[in-house]
Amino acid sequence: MAESQIKLYYKNVTAEIIGDENGITAGRLKTLAEETTPLIGKLNEERKAGQTPYRDLPYNEQTIQKVKELTAELKARCENLVVLGIGGSALGNIALQTALNPYMHNLDDTQRPGPRLFVFDNIDPDQLSSLLNWVDDKLDKTIFNVISKSGRTAETASQFMLVRQLLIDKLGADAYKNNVVATTDAKRGTLRTIATEQGLRSLEVPDGVGGRFSVLSAVGLFSAAMCGIDIDRLLAGARDMDTRVSSEDFYKNPAAINAAINWHFYNHGKKISVMMPYSYHLKDLADWYRQLWAESLGKAKDLAGNEVHIGPTPVKALGATDQHSQVQLYREGPNDKLFTFLQVNNFGAKLAAGPAPDCAAELGFLAGADLGMLLNSEKKATEYALLANSRPCLTIIFDSVNAYTVGAFIYLYEVTTSFAGALFGINTYDQPAVELGKEATFALLHRPGYEKLAQQIKPYTEVDADYLG
Ligand code: PA5
Repeated sequence: MAESQIKLYYKNVTAEIIGDENGITAGRLKTLAEETTPLIGKLNEERKAGQTPYRDLPYNEQTIQKVKELTAELKARCENLVVLGIGGSALGNIALQTALNPYMHNLDDTQRPGPRLFVFDNIDPDQLSSLLNWVDDKLDKTIFNVISKSGRTAETASQFMLVRQLLIDKLGADAYKNNVVATTDAKRGTLRTIATEQGLRSLEVPDGVGGRFSVLSAVGLFSAAMCGIDIDRLLAGARDMDTRVSSEDFYKNPAAINAAINWHFYNHGKKISVMMPYSYHLKDLADWYRQLWAESLGKAKDLAGNEVHIGPTPVKALGATDQHSQVQLYREGPNDKLFTFLQVNNFGAKLAAGPAPDCAAELGFLAGADLGMLLNSEKKATEYALLANSRPCLTIIFDSVNAYTVGAFIYLYEVTTSFAGALFGINTYDQPAVELGKEATFALLHRPGYEKLAQQIKPYTEVDADYLG
């Protein structure tokens, strides 16, 4: 049987559908193909030269083996897996879990192919203490996977320090190590030092792979494998997509087409990119995409050092839910958005509405309606309404949601981001603007070496009572 696939559908961004003023004409598409085609070869060369190591993650047998071995060792005694991490060290884990495990995974033992999963990507004490209170008498059956590539992220470090002490108090200074897995840089950083010194089990974030491109490394694979996700199929989907997005033929390369269309619309007044899955399973992939797109493409300078302040603003929405909160704006507000719908042709479950109550004949049209069909009809109807107002719409069509198609989607969007970065002429892989906030936090916490910054930020961080309303 042919493997279930994902496809990019782009007719609804063309002038034929939404008119010449807003749509891409046949001539413009040809030009986009000509402008983007040389970048396909360039990206393939950069990959061969080892400049984009994320491209090779789906082939890393060593990591896959290590993740499987650790999973086999720990799974039997793990009822709860808690991931401590933030940004690229958390969003992929959340996205995989939502995409590939049942909605009630944590609550229903019969639906759970592995431990309960909690991903803590914040330091809100109210949220964290609720979990810690619950897990307190289950610590012996709980594994904490602390993930930090740099090993110095304040949020993750403080979570880890808190949890480590809790484990030591409950399980003992030696035994606590059995309940921690550290995922971090192979050689450098504070977390690597701790893991080595204390003899913690550990996994590696490969060199040169930034957080937001790391989901197919041990960062995302360990919690996925522990929770029963088929990581072999996930990586097979990514590898098959690799073949498609490496194609030098623009029209056969979905990442090149997707990036070129996004780039075109950004340059034609559509600076906002809305991703709207019509599937609960896919909702957190939109969150993962938001970080990938924002941190990779939002840059002050281009590669030549010119000040450009460039980057589409990614927004996530969920169909059909957000039809009832966002679509009024999307249709009648400014025509400044490109929409990308995620559509699922075959849902895993079949559910139908019951018969209409006798007193409500007007609901008859819904009687017996298949809910998957209804959701997809709502997607088509919303898209039609947007097209009627000349709003461009892309769709990523999933035959079905499974590990293979999710792996393919992740790889498609990672490479789309690389193409978009190349079209914008910026460095896709750095995030210099995130640093100042991190350093200001250090200054506010009186970290030695940050005294000067602490003085500089005072006027901005201390409340001036004259301005309290
Ligand atoms: O994508 C990125 O690089 C960031 O979002 C990081 O993942 C995030 O800041 C966490 O960093 P670290 O994994 O070093 O703790």
